[in-house]
This record gives sequence, C-alpha cells and structure tokens, in this order.
Amino acid sequence: MKYGYFDNKKNEYVIDRIDVPVSWTNYIGVKDMCGVFNHTAGGYLFYKSPEYHRITRFRPNGVPMDRPGHYVYVRDNETKDYWTLSWQPVGKSLDDAKYICRHGLSYIKYQCEYKGIKGEQKLFIPLDDAVEVWDVTLKNESGKKRSLSVFSYVEFSFHHITTDNQNFQMSLYSSGSSYKDGIIEIDLFYEPDGFQYFTSNETDDGNAAFDCLRDSFIGQYRTESNPLAVESGQCSGSFELGGNHCGALRRTIELNPGEEKRLVFLLGEGNREAGKKAREKYCSNNFSKTDAAFTELADFWKEKLSKLQIETPHEGMNAMINTWTLYQAEINVIFSRFASFIEVGGRTGLGYRDTSQDAMMVPHSNPEKSRARLVELLKGLTAAGYGLHLFSPEWFEKQTKPAFKSPTVVPMPSKSERIHGIEDVCADDALWLIPAIAEYIRETGDFNFAEEKYPYADTFDSDGAEESVFDHMKRILDFSAREVGPHGICKGLRADWNDCLNLGGGESAMVSFLHHWALVHFCALGRKLGKDVSEYEKMAAIVKASCEKELWNGSWYTRGFTSAGRAIGSPDCKEGRVFMESNTWAVLSGAVSKERGIAAMDAVDKFLYTPFGLKLCDPAFSQPDDDVGFVTRVYKGLKENAAIFSHPNPWAWAAEAMLGRGDRAIKFYDALCPYNQNDLIEVRKAEPYMYCQFITGPDHSAFGRANHPFMTGSAGWAYFAATRFILGIRPDFDCLVIDPCIPASWPSFKVRRVWRDAVYNITVENPNGVSKGVKECKLNGKPVVCKDPAASAAAVTAAGAAVAAAGAAAEVPEQARGSENEVRVIMG
Ligand code: GLC
Repeated sequence: MKYGYFDNKKNEYVIDRIDVPVSWTNYIGVKDMCGVFNHTAGGYLFYKSPEYHRITRFRPNGVPMDRPGHYVYVRDNETKDYWTLSWQPVGKSLDDAKYICRHGLSYIKYQCEYKGIKGEQKLFIPLDDAVEVWDVTLKNESGKKRSLSVFSYVEFSFHHITTDNQNFQMSLYSSGSSYKDGIIEIDLFYEPDGFQYFTSNETDDGNAAFDCLRDSFIGQYRTESNPLAVESGQCSGSFELGGNHCGALRRTIELNPGEEKRLVFLLGEGNREAGKKAREKYCSNNFSKTDAAFTELADFWKEKLSKLQIETPHEGMNAMINTWTLYQAEINVIFSRFASFIEVGGRTGLGYRDTSQDAMMVPHSNPEKSRARLVELLKGLTAAGYGLHLFSPEWFEKQTKPAFKSPTVVPMPSKSERIHGIEDVCADDALWLIPAIAEYIRETGDFNFAEEKYPYADTFDSDGAEESVFDHMKRILDFSAREVGPHGICKGLRADWNDCLNLGGGESAMVSFLHHWALVHFCALGRKLGKDVSEYEKMAAIVKASCEKELWNGSWYTRGFTSAGRAIGSPDCKEGRVFMESNTWAVLSGAVSKERGIAAMDAVDKFLYTPFGLKLCDPAFSQPDDDVGFVTRVYKGLKENAAIFSHPNPWAWAAEAMLGRGDRAIKFYDALCPYNQNDLIEVRKAEPYMYCQFITGPDHSAFGRANHPFMTGSAGWAYFAATRFILGIRPDFDCLVIDPCIPASWPSFKVRRVWRDAVYNITVENPNGVSKGVKECKLNGKPVVCKDPAASAAAVTAAGAAVAAAGAAAEVPEQARGSENEVRVIMG
C-alpha cells in the first residue's frame, strides 16, 4: 500500500493519500528557530532549545495523535461549513476533500481542495530570521463569489518543558497576552526576553478578529477539531495576564470566481515591535521578501546537495543519496537527538557517540557545523580520556554574562555533577571522535585544526590547562589501551555502542575493533603531520593481535565476554550467538585477515539477514541476564534485542564493499532502503523517505514496522557507506580516492563531487562486469596512479585496509580550487 511518491525534480516527498498510519514528519529551520511537524501540521516550534525555549506546545504520545499544531482554518461564511488547510484537526471526509502534503527541504506545503476552494499553507523559516512564515494562498475555483473567514491557530507553551508539564500553580500565572496593531504579543513575564509575536499582512480590528486565550478560541468541551470561534465565525477578543495563550487571528476575505488571495502569517521571536518590523519586511512589496527568503532557503539546500550528486542504475539510491539521506544526516547534525515526536525535547544535551558520528558524515556539505560539533566534543572530553556520555556544550563555555535563571529553570549543575566517573563511561564514546576529526581534515584540508588547543571538561575553568586536538586524541587512545580486561580486550564498561549491552568489567569486541580503527586514523593523520606515532603503531599491533587471538571463535567474531569471562556472541551461546557489531567491525577496523572477514560477514548474511535489513543479533534473548545487560530485558524483536537496528546496517554494506562483494553490499543496502518500501506502508508504517532507528524484527508480531524516524545515526552511516564504500569516492589527506565496489551488473555510474572547492565529474565504467578494482583512471585525459589500497595511502583512509580486497583504487591528486575536472575510471 502506498501513500505518496518521491518528486525528485522538486526534492519533495508528496503524500497524496493523507491518512498515513503514523505521523510522517519533517523539520523546518536550520539555525536558531526550528520546528518539527507532521503531515497534518501537528507539531511544535522552538527557539534554540526545545527544552528551555519551546514556543508552541505539544502534547506528546497522546490522542488524537501529535497535537496541537500550526493550523489554518477556513470557514465558508454562507454555508458555515469549515475545514483546515492541513487535513487535521478538522479531518474532513476524504470523499469530499482532497489533501496533499509536500515535505520539502526545510519547508512543508499543506494543500487542500474542498468545495471549490483550493488552498495552500506553506511553512518555512528564513535562514537569517527567527520567524516562522506561513505563506497561505486561497483560490476560488467554484465559479461563484465566496466569502471566507480564515483563522490561524497556535497554542503557546510556557517555554520550559518542565514548567509546561508540571506544577501549574506557578506557570499558569507567568505568561500574559495582548493584542494591538494587529499583533498578538505573548510575554513570559519572568524571562526578560520572553516574548513572541503573531501577526499577519492584513489587519482586521475589532474583537471578532483575534483570540489570545486558548480556551476562548476552542470553547468548553471542544477540541482543535471544532473550535467555537471557527464554528461561530467570530473570535472573542480574549487576552489576559496569566492563563493558556494562543495565536488566533481571523481575516475575512471575499473571492470572486477565479480569484486568488495570499495571506502571510508570522510567528516570531520577540515583542510587538519586532513583530511590526517583521511584518514590514515580509508583507510589503507584494511579499517580495517572503519570496526571496524562500528562494534563499532553496539555494541553501541546492548548494549543499551540489557537493555530491550521483547517477547510478539504482533509482532508489539516487533519490536517497542525492536528497533524502544527506538531508536526514544534516538534520541530525543540527538537532542532534533532542527534538522529534519521540524525543520530545526534554533532553537537549549532546550524546557523545551519536554527535561524534553525526559530525563525521557531512564535512563536505556542512564543514562549519561539523567543526563546531567537534570542538564541543573536544571540550566534553575529560583529561582521563573518556567522553561525557551526555553533556551540554554550554557547561564548557566561558560565560560572558550570567545565565538568567527563572524560578523554575533547573540551575547549572555543579562541576562534580557535570563530570561523571568511570561507572558511567560508555567505552566507545570518545573513540568515534578520532575518525571524525580525521575525516573532517581529509575533507577540508584544515590541518591546523589538529594543533588548535582546547581545555578538557574537567580543566576548562582552570587557566592554562589546554592541549592540542592531537593530544586530546592521544588521551582517548590511551584510555582505551588502559581499560582492558583479562583477555586484553577493551572493557565494556557501562555500555558500548549498544546501549543495552552492559558488560561492566567484562570485555567488548566492538570497542577493541573501534580502538584499532581509531588508531589507524590517528597514525595516518600523525604521519601526515610529520609526528612520531610509533608508540601508537605499536599499540595498534597489540590491539590487532589480541583481537585475532581472543575474538575469533573459529566461525565468526565473538561479541565479548561477561565479567565472569563467559563469551557472548559465540557458537556455544544459545541466545545472542551472532552479533552484527563484532563481525562488521572486525572488517571495518582493518584488524583482521580477509579470510576471517569473509567468514564473519557470511555469518552475518546467514544468521542476520531479513528482507527488511540485518538484525542486530540472533537468536533474540528471552531470559533476563544481567551479566549481559538490559538487552535481555527488552522484548524479542524490538530495539537492541534482535530487531533490525538500522544504524549498524551500513557497517555491513561498507564491510562487504571492503571485501569486494558488491552484490552482497547492494543486497544489504536494498533490504534496509526506505525507498524500496514506498508501496509497503501497510507493513512499514513510517516515512519511506527516512531511515528509522529500528525495524521490528521477525521474532515480533509487527515484523517490518519501522520506528523512530529522522533522529538516527543510520542516515549518516548510510550516506557514508554508500558514497565512500559502495561508490567508493572518499577524500584522503591529499588525494581523492576512487575505489568502487558495485554490483557486477552495473555498467557504469557517475558522481559529481566537490572536494576542497574543485569539482570532479567522475564517470566510472565497468565494461567487464566486475565488482571491484580500478584498471585505469584518467584525470582531464592524463593517467592517474592506481594502486592496491592495502599498499597505498588509501590504506589509512576511512577503513583501514588490512583486508583491502581484489583490485586497485585510483588516487586523484588534489586540483586547484575553482577548477572543474573530468575523471574517467575504468574498472576491470
Ligand atoms: C540509540 C542511541 C545510540 C546507540 C543505539 C544503540 O540509537 O542513540 O547512541 O548507539 O541506540 O544502542
């Protein structure tokens, strides 16, 4: 069953059957003001922080689902019939009304045709202003004159999520509203700058034209589906100091047959004066600034997408990589994991591992944000070399003025509360930062970054205790070298990447493999910078030897050991016999032999493959076992307990690509690919344009259902693995490596890649139907070196390459900034 289609020309996903089974969401805003909304305009808006400064309210996990929202009601004044431009909340019968939602890049269009009136509500936030623009058009296609009342509606929040959800004896009396000059002003009294405005291009005065009080607009014993004001055609002019506030403006318009009118509503950060300025800016000159702001937003995304565009025989991969997967990865870098309908905004900090991985994925399209995130993470590292699992970057900013504390806002935690001890360390967290830094430098050529100095989380307030980025990296590697168990494998500590595998003093294969991977990146960078890294090369050799000796179980790679020394993820286990993490990372880390890598990945295919992607482990756990961890207390087929956890799936694509098995890589890619499930929504339920955190596994009755869209590291990894490993285009410190691993049936593909301000138009031809190996490469007609990656600089790129497979890779040297280059690659 299908509910929409990909409009690749416009970079939109078009939902043309609006009654989708769950909310299909999108994000607007890329800087300070942001919002998350579903296909029927339900959702919320915030400024900088959804925890401390949410502008509009959201009632999470409720019924009706995902309310309230940012709604436009239309009322026919003759018939008294009314509807909304988004299908909900009025929810007209779909036999009478036609609804479409177009999710675009940082904008949403809600379109509706009902009783001869064609309407559209477009939501977006200009790049440089903290204002949400609702660009509304209404066209009369009915052949007779129509008199319509248009009502906007939003429900305001008390800013702080806690204030908004508990203890109303304070919050109910802390905000006030007023209406003047066609502008509603909301004032959070206890915050000096706590103002919002809501206004529109047309001023309609009199009490019937506005309501600032939610309960007056909605009416008693009613909901957003049948507000009293809309039903009666009149607002009541309500406002008050204290209470629950809304932004409801009524505008009455007459439309002749064929006539179209445009209304612009503005919901902004700031007081009435700011509202006047915004109205002047966005509503004068026939809305020229509104149009310009929308074009700027489109250009902003066009520019990002233009850094890497692909043309392969795989239609789904083209659509996902060229638009949606990059978009999702970018949204993750911007919003981390703190604003969605699942993570509803009560936790705004950065998760160390998630953020490190996010920052690694988009250095080509968002170098500034990637760098800023890396710096935040460097400051969130302790001098002992572990990362703070969840932290707020503000903790480690030198305050220029004291943070304002409202009576209800939780105060800044003391230093001892901020810096957690070893008992809360996730053993993988900081290791991810090392490749992320290396990838950032490979992409940008910003080698000086390695020498920049930053404090540690526990030294930032003591003067002079700063060290270089390179030294931070050493501390991370040293920490992992110290924290090993009896087998010489890194301890699992509170958890590793798998939050639910809690091995404590037991050992984690994944962490040792990550340690090796990080060492490969670090040594490559160090050598490039002319540093002595011999100590770390030795460390890598020790890690590699321990991994091969202790983790290979004769069939695949063991996942770890409990603190009592019992193996997990090995053939003797009844439950949790095979795990994704240890087998994929064995290959990715570059620490194991090719033969064993192949056996390990064959086990992944044999035991973990499903038509919807690879399961995290098999068989699922059914018996609680606290030596293994929380995973044994999760229902079978859900989350980490043998669901198809999306994030590690691309690890398997990359591992297969490193092994030279392009058909297998695409088989795995296809199983998870949301695009491929566009017409299987009765099973998938969630958005087909987004990767989801996990797909319910075969042990569960809802096998195939996708859960938790948008906010997941799967997008970044899908992008990274598909572009750098399957298509094989990856920057190194001074060359662009071309090392594809594709299905043998692909005759050719093209990639346009911008790297360090030069364009590379790459055409890869595959006349002999191979999966891997570059026979010949020409740059602007001249031959380019092709080497076996294991013996070349490419050995130390993203993968490490002890297992580097069949065939050579091309190394295209860096070209002048501003140049446009033709690269022709022949595989064979
Ligand atoms: C969630 C967490 C991530 C973790 C994963 C597996 O996605 O955000 O940090 O690695 O679950 O447990």
